Amino acid sequence: MISDKIRDILNEQINKEFYSAYLYLSMSAYFSEIGLYGFSNWTKVQSKEELDHGMILFEYILGRKSQVYLSQISMPTFEMNTPLEVFEQIYEHERSITSAIDSVANMTDSECDLATRNFIDWYLREQIEEEDSVSKIISKLKAFGQENSALFLIDKELGKREYTSPKY
Ligand code: FEO
Repeated sequence: MISDKIRDILNEQINKEFYSAYLYLSMSAYFSEIGLYGFSNWTKVQSKEELDHGMILFEYILGRKSQVYLSQISMPTFEMNTPLEVFEQIYEHERSITSAIDSVANMTDSECDLATRNFIDWYLREQIEEEDSVSKIISKLKAFGQENSALFLIDKELGKREYTSPKY
């Protein structure tokens, strides 16, 4: 059994992960509309991963014999600008998710919940990877993205990303 505080913050995190899925899916639609199908693929794959992140939390809460309560998911919003500007927004979003995961970790410490602390460590590592992969794309876009031929190549590269379910 987990404490009410842990239950609540994990449920809030489910909502944040599902919001992330919505956000990436709306970005995927935007990129598809402007003909950047590789960017569209990358964000669509990320959307699926975010759903997985939410579901891992879902299963964990149930597995600890606690309650899942799904709350309203906000409408995703972002500025529909250049790929660089969209990815800068992605980076800021992921930083906010990292901060949210940090808050979960801090609460497991204050609640002396070592099992959930161990569980949430995977999310801390996942956030490091996500911030790193997004910042690398931003660096490429800053270095080469002003030229259409380079943007075409980056789009092609992002089009190769394949979905694999997270190895939790
Ligand atoms: Fe599940 Fe991108 O954080």
